[in-house]
Amino acid sequence: MKVCVIGSGYVGLVAGACFADTGNSVTCADIDARKIEGLKKNVLPIYEPGLHEIVERNQHDGRLSFTTDVAAAIRANDVIFIAVGTPPGEDGSADLKHVCAVAKTIGENLVGFKVVVDKSTVPVGTGARVAEIIREHAPDGDFAVVSNPEFLKEGAAVNDFLKPDRIVIGTDDERARRVMAQLYAPYQRTSERIIFMDVPSAEMTKYAANAMLATRISFMNEIARLCEDVGADVSAVRRGIGSDPRIGNKFLFPGVGFGGSCFPKDVRALMDTGRKRGQPMHILQAVFDVNERQKLRLVERVVEHFGEDLSGLTLAVWGLAFKPQTDDMREAPAITIIRALRDRGARIRATDPVALETGREAVGEDVEYVDSEYAAAEGADALLVVTEWSEYRTPDFPRLKSLLRNPVVFDGRNLYDPAYMAELGFVHYSIGRATVGK
Ligand SMILES: NC(=O)c1ccc[n+]([C@@H]2O[C@H](COP(=O)([O-])OP(=O)(O)OC[C@H]3O[C@@H](n4cnc5c(N)ncnc54)[C@H](O)[C@@H]3O)[C@@H](O)[C@H]2O)c1
Repeated sequence: MKVCVIGSGYVGLVAGACFADTGNSVTCADIDARKIEGLKKNVLPIYEPGLHEIVERNQHDGRLSFTTDVAAAIRANDVIFIAVGTPPGEDGSADLKHVCAVAKTIGENLVGFKVVVDKSTVPVGTGARVAEIIREHAPDGDFAVVSNPEFLKEGAAVNDFLKPDRIVIGTDDERARRVMAQLYAPYQRTSERIIFMDVPSAEMTKYAANAMLATRISFMNEIARLCEDVGADVSAVRRGIGSDPRIGNKFLFPGVGFGGSCFPKDVRALMDTGRKRGQPMHILQAVFDVNERQKLRLVERVVEHFGEDLSGLTLAVWGLAFKPQTDDMREAPAITIIRALRDRGARIRATDPVALETGREAVGEDVEYVDSEYAAAEGADALLVVTEWSEYRTPDFPRLKSLLRNPVVFDGRNLYDPAYMAELGFVHYSIGRATVGK
């Protein structure tokens, strides 16, 4: 099939590369000339495990190409994916300017029958709006607009794309339905994973999925706070409730709050839809508020230990990215945490296995960035663990203790066993569990 993917970010690049890898001819188009120039030389704008090899192989074999000429890419291909950003506007609503701009370009370049697939996360009604814009520019155009929200997880995006749990496709057009089924056939050879539905339901499915996941996180963070207060251990509670198949054991880890490019923005966008429809989303408002508060939980613990004034202290921070296996810093809790610590006068020495550059851009220059966890800890008054990178899970504890000026660890991801930390002589604060060694 001849596929064009407009927008070469996390979603567009992964989708384009993976579609090429199953034999399609794919053009990835983006207005960011620097990004495209890099991609032509196999220099990826993002870190995503496994993606580089797929891009390189398919570009080498001639199935994958990159261009800034969006119009030509539309004219030359039959299936057009829209995978541009839908960032939050001032009021939390999804800003659709990029989606609408692409729809206009599609309308201006419509030749033959096109399946226009919206992969960006967009509010209900956007599919209809995209069709309207295309129609304005191509009154006799032959096209079908499909909603195909993406559920990949950054850090595991390639694997998620190649082995999806489900593929949601919203369409009421039989030709588009056949094209989509054919395109996704290679990813569901062992079992049928496509769920066909109407366009508005597909659009809503994406928001409802992210809102549900965000709700589980905020719920556990709130339970964790209460656990700390009443002397319960949230890890035991998590195991206790997760063993109930009605609840399940995924997404029950308390921590420093959710971040990233999707959960915060999608929760806000769904709240905005609810507000505009006169249906306020009370649960999601609470999910959002709990999350804002949770991002400062480690800072509260630092203040509890050292007092309000942190000047003169150097604090090591392990992990900047909003989650492991990515360099994405969008709405990363590390940004809020580091700023709050700096506002109280602390000096910060931060490290991250892959997000040092993006971290520097997001957090600012007034932080010292170092490339190893031990370099960050050297001479620091305490350590904060913010992202649960696997290399932080079992550090050389004696070495860590000897490097820190004070053996104090604020474990924002519950990576370490409190009893073991106490045995080693650390003061260990974690989330929803007893503090030890104080
Ligand atoms: N990142 C994720 O994990 C994820 C997961 C599922 C869904 N989504 C959704 O997918 C969409 C894309 O997200 P992303 O993280 O890939 O965004 P991104 O910011 O990484 O990439 C978007 C790309 O679109 C390009 N672009 C913007 N306007 C354009 C135009 N008019 N023509 C061509 N290119 C244009 C930008 O230059 C950028 O390279 C969003 O709606 C997001 O909510 C993201």
